[in-house]
Amino acid sequence: MSQDAFRLVSPSGDETRLPVRSGTTGPDVVDISDLYRDLGVFTYDPGFVATGSCSSDITFIDGENGVLLYRGYPVEQLAAHSSFIEVAYLLLYGELPTAAALEEFDNIIRRHTMLNEGMLRFFNGFRYDAHPMAVLSAVVGSMSAYYHDTLDASDPEHRDIFAHRILAKLPTIAAAAYKLSIGQPFMYPRNDLNYCENLLHMLFAVPAEDYEIDPIAAEALDLLFILHADHEQNCSTSTVRMAGSSGANPYSAIAAGISALWGPAHGGANEAVLKMLEEIGDAKNISKFVAKAKDRDDPFRLMGFGHRVYKSFDPRAKIIREMCHKVLANLGRVDTPMFDLALELEQVALKDDYFIEKNLYPNVDFYSGIIYRALQIPTTMFTVMFALGRSVGWTAHWQEMIIDPTGKISRPRQLYTGAPQRDYVPIEERKLRERRANHSL
Ligand code: CMC
Repeated sequence: MSQDAFRLVSPSGDETRLPVRSGTTGPDVVDISDLYRDLGVFTYDPGFVATGSCSSDITFIDGENGVLLYRGYPVEQLAAHSSFIEVAYLLLYGELPTAAALEEFDNIIRRHTMLNEGMLRFFNGFRYDAHPMAVLSAVVGSMSAYYHDTLDASDPEHRDIFAHRILAKLPTIAAAAYKLSIGQPFMYPRNDLNYCENLLHMLFAVPAEDYEIDPIAAEALDLLFILHADHEQNCSTSTVRMAGSSGANPYSAIAAGISALWGPAHGGANEAVLKMLEEIGDAKNISKFVAKAKDRDDPFRLMGFGHRVYKSFDPRAKIIREMCHKVLANLGRVDTPMFDLALELEQVALKDDYFIEKNLYPNVDFYSGIIYRALQIPTTMFTVMFALGRSVGWTAHWQEMIIDPTGKISRPRQLYTGAPQRDYVPIEERKLRERRANHSL
């Protein structure tokens, strides 16, 4: 911690000192926790644009220079040399595993892949056309009903088993949601396969014939999961921390994170990008869509562009763009036109003054959908795939939050703009107030 402090004087002359805290790297933070006590005011920062909500050892982002580190390791190095399971170990336990530790961890995850058989009956209760994200969040939320033997958050072994279950069972739940949507039988996991091979098997195999796993497809998924594994205090991770801070069971906290991820401004963007590219359809329409995105009176945004933190480039998008080339070349399948359209749209936007001035670059979601589509994963499953990768980050953050001795329930304050105190009016004396016209009742 740094010894520096900001001196803040209120208009009435009251004074406080706000300590400055320094992390390992990145901007310092000003600790305002005594501000209300000393000056009687709160800070105001809708969307947490300039607010650090916690301290964390897990992930570091330098948005100006496009740097992303997991436990200190650059994501480019992990993408080139590691595997998702190794990265999961790194995020959960803080260090890269030895060969023996990795083998043991991999083995544990392979042996937690089955769902309690009773949970499978849940899937039949959903409408056949339910969005898989709705199914994923509902089924993960219900895990606490099946695995309540290990919900004691103060017990390190319980926390560990929770982490293993989330990591191992999410692909099984995701694949079951997909099979439901296409009316095919659920495929049980195969523990002889690695994480991504097993996922492909559960998604695409059928009991009636053999299914050959494409190693390029497994490699591409593994890379995407590494890139999605964590991203510090993003919306869904902050949701997991916030829900978990009340002491709610961790499966509920993860279910809350899944719901937050679904939004199009967050993980739902990968699905939205594909829909947008389909809508654009042809390179000759790009300028029309770029103009729409720039029009302040039009809510349309270029999906897959812009990021709250990255203001030069998203390092994950760079890696994924390269993987797109490899996947499309190796699979020899579909979608080169869609990729070409995406490349052209990127070029037009990058040269456009509006996007330059606002530092809007392609983000992780811009190209990931093209890979998923080339792997024949349907659009509605894109955000589910994001959730599978991010589940390990959510779990690592939940674990960090729950053992933090300074941890408190998350409880932000507000700037109240509603009616001042007033007395109850009997119903016969009430008049329709003008304000009501602005409310959809
Ligand atoms: N297209 C057109 N204009 C944009 C875009 C875009 N994609 N993104 C931001 N802007 C404009 C925005 O209108 C605003 O303009 P002005 O200053 O004139 O009001 C300015 O850029 C700043 O935008 P903001 O919404 O205040 O920035 P933010 O940090 O709150 O939002 C964002 C970040 C990612 C939500 C936003 O860029 C966006 O909606 N992008 C499209 C959705 C998307 O791709 N989301 C995935 C994010 S990466 C993966 C993840 O987090 O899950």
